[in-house]
Amino acid sequence: MTPSKRRARPVKAPPPSQDSHLVRINRYLSMSGITSRRKAEELVVQGKVEVNHEVVTDLATRVDPERDKVYVQGVRAVAVIEHLYLVLNKPKDAITTMSDEKGRPTVMGLVKSQRRVYPIGRLDRNTTGVLLFTNDGEFAHRLTHPKFGVPKSYKVTCAKQVARGSLDALRRGVDLHDGKSAPANVVVIPGSKGKEIGVTIHEGRNRQVRRMLESLGYEVLKLDRVAYGPVTREGLSRGATRSLTKAEVRELKRMAGYTEEEQWRSQS
Ligand code: URA
Repeated sequence: MTPSKRRARPVKAPPPSQDSHLVRINRYLSMSGITSRRKAEELVVQGKVEVNHEVVTDLATRVDPERDKVYVQGVRAVAVIEHLYLVLNKPKDAITTMSDEKGRPTVMGLVKSQRRVYPIGRLDRNTTGVLLFTNDGEFAHRLTHPKFGVPKSYKVTCAKQVARGSLDALRRGVDLHDGKSAPANVVVIPGSKGKEIGVTIHEGRNRQVRRMLESLGYEVLKLDRVAYGPVTREGLSRGATRSLTKAEVRELKRMAGYTEEEQWRSQS
């Protein structure tokens, strides 16, 4: 949508906020490559800048680079945002949510990032292990899209030995209330007396692994996601975060159907 030729009307800047991801309008405009910060100030004062189709003339205006739509004289200004890709080794009891109204610990409280990122999919409160975060909406969308079937591997600890027939059932797919699960790769973890199994799935339905096991009569005592595509929790203590390597991002992009050229963009 292009902005109308409305007359400039001063818009009060929002009150100062703790949101570190908001940037001043002049900085945003310089990030978009349109002009310098100083020249951007002039454009704002002259009423040539609109945020979400409202003219803004207050230099204290701050915008959310991922949400707000900024136009200069009718032309969209898109800031170049650095994409962040992180992995958290999620501990038990952290809830996968941006905020919890009951004040319980959330994964957001554990992720150390200057910029706002959000989790890719979710892990149950009691599930531990690999949880990815990003501010790249397209990447998050593709990784969680069933069409691309990016593999996720879990170490499952059951209360009793998993019978051979049950292992085969998991491999074929089991009936769940929201449809049969797709074939999974399943191995028995050596030395576990058959109580620990490795399960790799290519979908990501709610509580899927627990439900697969429960449907076959097994109580799941522990669930740990050990890998998401090429990303593992190796060397990362519980509760710790690290940036993904370029190779990991590139491989995840390949798995999520990005073209060769798109995969290499993470190298620049
Ligand atoms: N499957 C589950 O049952 N729980 C999770 O947290 C992830 C996958």
